[in-house]
Amino acid sequence: MITHRSYTVEPWAVRETALNLDVLAQSESVFALSNGHVGWRGNLDEGEPHGLPGSYLNGVHEVHPLPYAEAGYGYPESGQTVINVTNGKILRLLVDDEPFDLRYGRLVAHERVLDLRRGVLERTCEWTSPAGSTVRVRSTRLVSLTQRAVAAVAYEVEAVGSRSRVVIQSELVANEQLPGSDGDPRAAVALESPLEQEDAFAAGSRLRLVHRTRRSGLRVAVAADHTVTGPERTTTRSESDRDVARLTVTSVLEPGQTLRVEKLVAHGWSGTRSLPAMADQVDAALAAAAHDGWQGLLDDQRAHLDDFWARADVEVDGDEEIQQAVRFALFHVLQAGARAEQRAIPAKGLTGSGYDGHAFWDTEMFVLPVLTHTAPGAVAEALRWRYNTLDEARERAAQLGLGGAAFPWRTIAGPEGSAYWPAGTAAFHVNADIADAVVRYVEATGDTAFEREVGVELLVETARLWRSLGHHDHRGVFHIDGVTGPDEYSAVADDNTYTNLMARANLLAAADAVERHPRRAEQLGVDEEESAAWRDAAEAMFLPYNHELGVHEQHAGFTRYQRWDFAGTRPDQYPLLLNFPYFDLYRKQVVKQADLVLAMYTCGAHFDDEQVARNFAYYEPLTVRDSSLSACCQAVIAAQAGHLRLAYHYTAEAALMDLADLEHNTRDGLHIASLAGTWMALVAGFGGMRRDGGGLRFAPRLPERLRRLAFNLQFRDRRLRVEIHADKASYTLLAGPPLTFDHHGEPVTVGTDDPAVRAIPRAPIRPTPAQPPHRAPHGG
Ligand code: BGC
Repeated sequence: MITHRSYTVEPWAVRETALNLDVLAQSESVFALSNGHVGWRGNLDEGEPHGLPGSYLNGVHEVHPLPYAEAGYGYPESGQTVINVTNGKILRLLVDDEPFDLRYGRLVAHERVLDLRRGVLERTCEWTSPAGSTVRVRSTRLVSLTQRAVAAVAYEVEAVGSRSRVVIQSELVANEQLPGSDGDPRAAVALESPLEQEDAFAAGSRLRLVHRTRRSGLRVAVAADHTVTGPERTTTRSESDRDVARLTVTSVLEPGQTLRVEKLVAHGWSGTRSLPAMADQVDAALAAAAHDGWQGLLDDQRAHLDDFWARADVEVDGDEEIQQAVRFALFHVLQAGARAEQRAIPAKGLTGSGYDGHAFWDTEMFVLPVLTHTAPGAVAEALRWRYNTLDEARERAAQLGLGGAAFPWRTIAGPEGSAYWPAGTAAFHVNADIADAVVRYVEATGDTAFEREVGVELLVETARLWRSLGHHDHRGVFHIDGVTGPDEYSAVADDNTYTNLMARANLLAAADAVERHPRRAEQLGVDEEESAAWRDAAEAMFLPYNHELGVHEQHAGFTRYQRWDFAGTRPDQYPLLLNFPYFDLYRKQVVKQADLVLAMYTCGAHFDDEQVARNFAYYEPLTVRDSSLSACCQAVIAAQAGHLRLAYHYTAEAALMDLADLEHNTRDGLHIASLAGTWMALVAGFGGMRRDGGGLRFAPRLPERLRRLAFNLQFRDRRLRVEIHADKASYTLLAGPPLTFDHHGEPVTVGTDDPAVRAIPRAPIRPTPAQPPHRAPHGG
């Protein structure tokens, strides 16, 4: 979309200089505002035209039966889907009897700006109605990062050239009509009118609607209050009906006069609280917002973001698009996780209904690494959500005949929601991914209270799963058979290297954690024998390797398979999952997304640089990147192998996934993992950052196109700034006690008054591996 002529490239904003109805749905995702609890798509204030109306409350979902042509034991019986809740952002406008609808009349100017520092979406437009009345409309919208229930809009209409009679209808609307699905499995199940009305209230400037979902029984309350400023004789009237509550503001504007409505909106939901309690809850949230007022909300938003950027900003010299994209990415990653507070962080955040609003391993392996070093409090909250769903995960494991806990492949509230078990239930690696996120968070923060209260149990229950899922063979070697790794074009395979390595780390981390927390271990019933069994399994873990080719196998036997007929596959046949049967994808060498390549990043200690280069060269021509999670992983390993130009192209692909709509489904919501992957590609790729036994390593190297890359990191009460040039890297400790880490294999210590500058060794020269035909990275 950034390639669209009306979008500009600038460092701190995403600006659309003209309204493009052809990319309206996409722009609604790009301009979505959220705090992780409330999400408002960037729909136009008037509600129409729209691509996909969307207002979401994290956790609010409906359940629906999952039909199977052939049932089987242990298949999830019901699915969950995110629902579009009561829309509080609508402000309809009537100008001299005609609806302000940008499809009619003449749009003289229209601009929208997502301001990444102020955390607001601003809109200005000038429109002449079919009958010739001209108005200017300005609006500013925010979803508060400091008051999690609250969103607000300031909407202003000005008469231009002649007197106009204007009517603004500020509404709360439930059960909006949604466009039908196009059958893409990655979109959402559409549910008609999911909300049943319970209460509607309108008095003075205040509105409130309370509804309840039919089957999941969740109560949703939304309330609004208004401040109206306009010429004398401006009148207001409020009313409510089943699914609408409305404040109507009427005024006659002389040329140059304005009518302004400030609308505060409060949201709440609960599966247990009563109707009066929910009504009171949103009224109280409104009172708190009104106490600060519109300007107070704006100021707090700015202060919150100033603090975030001081900890998280990434500066890129040499590519303005990537500079803009990484800030856009960080902004949305923050929005997705900032105030999720013991709820899931869905694959699309709260920007759209794609993937039914489900959370996947995307959270632990892509989103949480970024937040660990930029907003660590959000990581603890996200992992507490997993912790709160442990009982369900234990039940699922028991149902599958396994020990410990089996976390769902996709879910909103905790139960497994994947109806396709080969790429769902069998993707057990999600358990090790959660364990990895726990270890990463504790290493980076030293939060031992969290480890004791939450971490140990997550590590123990996932270790138990691995111990029961795998087995020692007659030689004592430990295997984990019949699982699906990250690459969903291989399923139910034996000894997936990524899974085995991650499970190994999980088993060892659990054994170490119970040693550190003996009382917790006792409470959880872990004895010495059990933790010794974890260590035995970890030490004996099988890693499939093809000695003839000198490469690790993605899973046992993978390199023996027939290669996919890449030459015979047309460009329009990607993504392959929409054009070929899974049975054929499963039995060929074709990789949907980084799998062995991801293992080399997350479990790097098992691969020396030569091996990384050989493995990368082998898997690169097989990897089609039909998942947006792939490019960033390939960027990291391409950079490590010295293919800096290729790494740069992959970085650009991850960065522009949504701004350029590379997967053609940004309309359904943003690809939060890929956005997080932009940070990963820059920091772990060109910064070469890796975890190293509780510490950090860096092996920075820039591609030719970038002149400078700088990023800040939080690590154990410190704030470290890393600044990389072509020939040298400087490390500055901005706050905290001295820190020792590794730079290209050499130990470096920095203190707040003692920065370090180190030379960057030249990258090894190796032939750049090719991708499958038509699958070179975007811009490559
Ligand atoms: C990928 C998964 C990912 C999911 C949600 C799928 O296409 O293969 O790895 O978790 O999308 O982003």
